[in-house]
Amino acid sequence: MTDATYEVRVLDVRIEHRDPFGIGTSRPRLTWRTDTYIDGWRQAAADIEIDGAVSSRIGPGCVLVDWPGAPLRSRQRATVRVRVTGTDGSHSGWSAPLEVEAALLTPADWRAEWVSPAVSMEQTALLRCDFDTPIAGDGARLHISSLGVFEAELNGSVVGDHVLDPGWTSYRSRVVAETFDVTDLLRRGRNTLGIRLADGWFRGRLGADAAAHPAHYGDRIAAIAQLDVVTDDGGASTVCRTDARWRWIHGATTRASIYDGEDHDARAEPAGWSRPEFDDTGWFDVDVIEHDVVLVPRLGPPVRRTEEVEVAEVLDSGPSDGSRLLVDFGQNLVGRLRLDVDGPRGTTIELRHVEVLESGVPNAASLRSAEATDRYTLRGGGPERWEPRFTFHGFRYATVDGWPGRFDPGDLRAEVCHSDMTRTGWFSCDDPLLERFHENVVWGMRGNFLSVPTDCPQRDERLGWTGDIAVFVPTACFLFDCAGMLRSWLTDLALEQRDDIGVPWVVPNVLDQWIGCSVWGDAAVTVPWTIYDRFGDAGVLEDQYDSMSRWADLIVGWAGGDDGDLHLEWVFQFGDWLDPTAPGDDPSAGATDKHLVGNAALCRTLDLMRRIAALLGRDGDAERYAQLHERARSSFVRSYLTADGLLTSDAQTAYAIAIAWDLLPDDLRTVAGTRLAELVRSAGHRIGTGFVGTPLVCDALCDTGHVADAYSLILQTEAPSWLGTVGRGATTVWERWDAIRADGSLHPAAMTSFNHYAFGAVADWLHRSVAGLAPDQPGYRRLRVRPLPGPGLDRAAAQHDTPYGRAEVGWERNGGHIRVSAVVPPNTTARVELPGSTTSFDVGAGRHHWDVQDPSRAVEAQR
Ligand code: BGC
Repeated sequence: MTDATYEVRVLDVRIEHRDPFGIGTSRPRLTWRTDTYIDGWRQAAADIEIDGAVSSRIGPGCVLVDWPGAPLRSRQRATVRVRVTGTDGSHSGWSAPLEVEAALLTPADWRAEWVSPAVSMEQTALLRCDFDTPIAGDGARLHISSLGVFEAELNGSVVGDHVLDPGWTSYRSRVVAETFDVTDLLRRGRNTLGIRLADGWFRGRLGADAAAHPAHYGDRIAAIAQLDVVTDDGGASTVCRTDARWRWIHGATTRASIYDGEDHDARAEPAGWSRPEFDDTGWFDVDVIEHDVVLVPRLGPPVRRTEEVEVAEVLDSGPSDGSRLLVDFGQNLVGRLRLDVDGPRGTTIELRHVEVLESGVPNAASLRSAEATDRYTLRGGGPERWEPRFTFHGFRYATVDGWPGRFDPGDLRAEVCHSDMTRTGWFSCDDPLLERFHENVVWGMRGNFLSVPTDCPQRDERLGWTGDIAVFVPTACFLFDCAGMLRSWLTDLALEQRDDIGVPWVVPNVLDQWIGCSVWGDAAVTVPWTIYDRFGDAGVLEDQYDSMSRWADLIVGWAGGDDGDLHLEWVFQFGDWLDPTAPGDDPSAGATDKHLVGNAALCRTLDLMRRIAALLGRDGDAERYAQLHERARSSFVRSYLTADGLLTSDAQTAYAIAIAWDLLPDDLRTVAGTRLAELVRSAGHRIGTGFVGTPLVCDALCDTGHVADAYSLILQTEAPSWLGTVGRGATTVWERWDAIRADGSLHPAAMTSFNHYAFGAVADWLHRSVAGLAPDQPGYRRLRVRPLPGPGLDRAAAQHDTPYGRAEVGWERNGGHIRVSAVVPPNTTARVELPGSTTSFDVGAGRHHWDVQDPSRAVEAQR
């Protein structure tokens, strides 16, 4: 047990990648961390107790440790405790108990049927059923899902706090079923279960060409639900389930669309519809439909409201009819508005959401065809509160039309919504613009991790673009615990990939025309690899191995197969998407040949496959991929290296990827670094890279001895640059470097989002190299402490909640010295390389400080 005089205690016992209630794994892996003030503490052994029986004594592992007990059955509960012994003989007591409960694990557990209301697209429905339960169990569980999006009510109360359940997965194969504890809402006797249902991603329009293909997954929305009460003998009795007895009626939400918004007429809401006293005469019978989608428990966190943002300012809008208001939330965010209003019955308030103003006037161009408009018609007769349920918007400003009476800014709140991941990473420094840029990266991730990792959250797109997450994933894994959400997405990627054309551009795939291409398709390999590297989850490599090797083998075939050159030429490529020199209407035609990018990515993928196969003990594959990697690398050199040691595309991204992915003979690496630095300088330290080069250019400069140039690039405030966007008012990361141009006008291209995380991927370099906190072994089992102080900053620091606990690295200039500090979590070590030195040494867990001479003069001299 825990007490104040502890030496060693076990905290935070958890299961893999999500909360422990309603899980879908019968053998959930366990992680815990140890809190101790003993320097250098290492775990020698741990005992895991399940339901009072000590199941296992294991060695030093404390991250994703295999479930030591018998596999959990559907609905089974278990109590887990852990205690540890240190290599120094220290002992902890037992940890606080972790209560684990399994969801319905097999299709046979489902006794409910899919029920469907006859509503047309964009209409919503209310479904209800009364039921009796004489049972006094010690737990009631609602298992529920939908084709479409739902919100459940039991006896008049909303069930749970999720938003847009069941989220978006590859609905042709699998849909998430939620499990809620409804013990407190259920009563003995008569009860009513109600479900609100709307199109969501299932039937709503998706993708810019959606007008032609509205209902991607089917033309009927439906729900399935089963309410089980755990009986005294430990069994379960189903007291309510969806079947032909259910009834439905059109919802007061008369229109609901993810892209376009929601209309709600409060006058039409049947009061008390989800309570037993309600008379549902006139409601219709549902249709029971067949659907063969597999119901699966969630792998990561649900979407929730995670923050409330107040109106920052009420602005005057241009043309005003007296009732139109323009409000500014001060932050481009993703979610929706909640209003508190009191006014005459039948008054309609219209809310339009936009990301930007141009000359003070709301500009909706970045939304393309997404209407992003909500309308609420008042019931009247007293205060009312409303927030749309089945849509979300990406916005900073909103126009409010038709507000009755005096508007108090406190009556409107923005509810920020996204997958409710735990924040794990922070960065700080003495440059406020750079700190604001980092904040923009965090907001960009929050806005684009709403059930699936998307390109953007506002326009008629919001799709799981593979290339965007492929470049952003290292940053994502530092900032938030996104392993569960990304593992779920990878499951869909594997389900949607095809043996003839590979990995789709977007996952879940809703595009008709596509053929797999480099970097984007390589997400099949790079995303699992990064999850392994950052979270220490080797299971992801095993689970995705089939997907990644199918992709790798497919592109090897495209590149020429078994002998001769391995070279991708005819394959479609997005290239170094959106580098600042690319023409507005052809973002793939930047300064770096897109086939050079594609072939570099081929090398990188084969290199990772070689390492992954070796890690998994697939020696034959490891050998084969090693040979393929060598061949691809030689082909790259033959095709793209000129006689004078330069690359055929004499451009920043070409050198950045050649250096970062180790594609050049050793003696030419320095030449490439020198040329990269020259190019960066001749561009006046303004950015010259697109999606692929942007996350790598600073690393490539630092790795070849040009730290000062990397600092000049990141601290540049003239456009195009990261901080240039901050200077022009960005509160998120933009899709285009010049989304807002020098004269304040917006880029005219249709593809101009103000919330795209890809260019924010440089934050990973801020964490690893500017602050100096990186994993040296998977999951930060060993940290790499290697800050690279450069000109323009006097201090920088990063904190990261590794699986082992909080790690911190920071540095600060002090006279002619630099003080480096680090916190190394228990049960880990750190390999340290101090500024100005090229040798490293190891330290154990604890707090450390070092004072070194400030090497900045030497760095300055290099410029
Ligand atoms: C998306 C991207 C994506 C790109 C691919 C765009 O429409 O917004 O971020 O990667 O298409 O070309």
